[in-house]
Amino acid sequence: MNNYTQRLLLTVWRKKTTLLVAGLLITIILFGLQYSSRLQQNRNGSAEEADRRNGMVFVEKTTKANEVSLERVHRRKQSREDQNEEEERKDVEEKLGIPNVNLDGQNPYVPKRRIVHFDLKGAPPKIDYIKRILPLIKNLGATGILIEYEDMFPYDGSLKHLAAKNAYSKKQILEIQRAADELKLTVIPLIQTFGHVEFALKHREFIKIREVLTSPQALCPSKNLSLDFISEMISQVLELHPKSKYLHIGCDEVFQMGECELCRLELHDNLFLRHVQNVANLVMEKRAGIKVIIWDDMLRHLSSQTMLDIQLGRLVEPMVWVYAEDIYRFVQPQVWEKYAAVFKTAWTASAFKGAFGETLYVPDARRHLENNLRWLDVMAQQERNFKDGFSGIVLTGWQRYDHFAVLCELLPAAIPSLALSLLAVSHGYFNSSLKSQFIGSLSCPQHTNRHSPFINLLGDPFLWDKLGRCMFPGSPFFRLIYRLNTVELEAQDYLRTTTRNKGWLTEYNLRRNYSLPLRIEELTSDLPRIYHGVVSIARSAFDAMNSIFDNYTISEWIEQRIYPYVLQLERLQNQSNAIKNVNVWPVRPLSPLKDLQRLGVPIIVP
Ligand SMILES: *[C@@H]1O[C@H](CO)[C@@H](O)[C@H](O)[C@H]1NC(C)=O
Ligand SMILES: *[C@@H]1O[C@H](CO)[C@@H](O)[C@H](O)[C@H]1NC(C)=O
Ligand SMILES: *[C@@H]1O[C@H](CO)[C@@H](O)[C@H](O)[C@H]1NC(C)=O
Ligand SMILES: *[C@@H]1O[C@H](CO)[C@@H](O)[C@H](O)[C@H]1NC(C)=O
Ligand SMILES: *[C@@H]1O[C@H](CO)[C@@H](O)[C@H](O)[C@H]1NC(C)=O
Ligand SMILES: *[C@@H]1O[C@H](CO)[C@@H](O)[C@H](O)[C@H]1NC(C)=O
Repeated sequence: MNNYTQRLLLTVWRKKTTLLVAGLLITIILFGLQYSSRLQQNRNGSAEEADRRNGMVFVEKTTKANEVSLERVHRRKQSREDQNEEEERKDVEEKLGIPNVNLDGQNPYVPKRRIVHFDLKGAPPKIDYIKRILPLIKNLGATGILIEYEDMFPYDGSLKHLAAKNAYSKKQILEIQRAADELKLTVIPLIQTFGHVEFALKHREFIKIREVLTSPQALCPSKNLSLDFISEMISQVLELHPKSKYLHIGCDEVFQMGECELCRLELHDNLFLRHVQNVANLVMEKRAGIKVIIWDDMLRHLSSQTMLDIQLGRLVEPMVWVYAEDIYRFVQPQVWEKYAAVFKTAWTASAFKGAFGETLYVPDARRHLENNLRWLDVMAQQERNFKDGFSGIVLTGWQRYDHFAVLCELLPAAIPSLALSLLAVSHGYFNSSLKSQFIGSLSCPQHTNRHSPFINLLGDPFLWDKLGRCMFPGSPFFRLIYRLNTVELEAQDYLRTTTRNKGWLTEYNLRRNYSLPLRIEELTSDLPRIYHGVVSIARSAFDAMNSIFDNYTISEWIEQRIYPYVLQLERLQNQSNAIKNVNVWPVRPLSPLKDLQRLGVPIIVP
């Protein structure tokens, strides 16, 4: 061996530690690069989808990363004994991803009533399912339920058209109340009496009480017939709720006012207030001492004097609703001042689902929790301004946005979000001290790793990862949604790639029957597998929903959520079959498309 090689080897031996460290660093960097390039790949595609996919695909990664970093936290603690418990606790809390809302930890604000809203205008659950949910919400701190019947109430007599064909029976309405009674849960019925009466005014019989002839949204408040109609509705609902001490009369989003001949000359504010006054009086005439609640949105812009003039505070209690995170953005401090001047008390309404998009199918539990925590903050601040404080909070759970909209997040997919937000409002905060109550009430397996967070709202906002093995009522549907998400993303991705990104199966190719058979083979090789995935989830959906919903709801949901993919994939299959059969092709140029003339393209088609 020559001198030089010897010296080199010697140096290597002396510096072995440094070299080892350097090697390790290079490996880590390479690994990191690969990871980030995978991230990059996943980010491509439409922004919206990328977001959602990040939600999914990265759930596992983030969880793993979190677990690893928790491990690290743990080890660090062992090696440095002076690290106090407090710091570790903070680390754990951070990993839960609970939105940071500045609540008073010493003196948490807990609303005196915590009411859960059942929106029956979409996907009305079977009575059995409602009866399984009631003990669950009782356990989590609910004190009552707000039932929005819409067309699920068994209206009869002159109102028989209002009832859906699958409406609950009178017996079932009483059964719900009996079950609630046994658990000491208050029942507050809700009926719409001004806007959002689409379910009634859509019928021919009620055209004459519409505000706008061609629209079923709002009632004309100036016709005697309208009040007769409402009076009858109230009578029927109160009759089947013999014990209710509250009635919610809706009155939100009255977008059509002052348009008919009778109303045209009046101010909107007067029309609105007079109608609320009329309806509230009707209710109180029928049941003395009953309290009437209305949504607050139509009051936000009114002056306190206008409301004081008719003593609105003696007629109704407002329910102030905001479902977004920033409450004061929608109901400013000045509005609160007005309310406190007019009303002795007020209700608030947050949301645990159905507020962030009409076609979503699982709620973002973190956003809804933030909405609820921020409400606690606002309520703690505003409580003292009302003579009698707040009456309570309602956690709304919308199943569709209005009578004509498609279904949004269904109740069984939102039980985890409900549990999270309900525990929060029942305690005045949410942190890891509520872990066992949360996990226990949802019948989840106890986690073996004490240091793994039981939720991770940042990486897993739909809670699929952490609650995937829980056994709460409706959990099979909750899991199905996770599967659907994967299948849907795959189908969307496939359709986009084959018909838009790739150049042989676009609309142009299909319209012109002009493509390359080998390319078509290649592009459709995955189609049977994707199609099978979509079709099989339809059947699984039926199985997961069968104990919760009737056949109409099941089929409505499958038609809206899954069927469109079935059709699109079948159409693509049919079209590619046809295009594959072509084996002689016309000479170019192909003749210009005649329909382009319609767009003002001045090309003469021979
Ligand atoms: C994704 O987009 C980036 C930036 O536009 C691009 O550099 C990269 O090649 C794309 N990756 C894939 C897999 O299409
Ligand atoms: C959770 O919050 C409550 C109220 O602020 C507090 O008393 C309790 O110590 C907190 N628990 C943990 C584990 O952070
Ligand atoms: C409604 O009824 C009242 C009293 O019965 C009557 O005075 C009024 O003219 C009626 N209004 C309309 C618009 O029919
Ligand atoms: C719903 O569909 C199932 C399966 O076809 C059937 O057995 C059941 O009788 C149907 N129920 C109703 C109420 O139509
Ligand atoms: C595809 O073709 C089959 C067989 O001809 C037909 O029954 C089906 O309706 C077609 N589907 C679509 C979506 O066009
Ligand atoms: C495409 O070609 C096939 C095979 O010749 C034929 O059956 C089909 O009708 C054509 N489709 C269109 C849209 O021209």
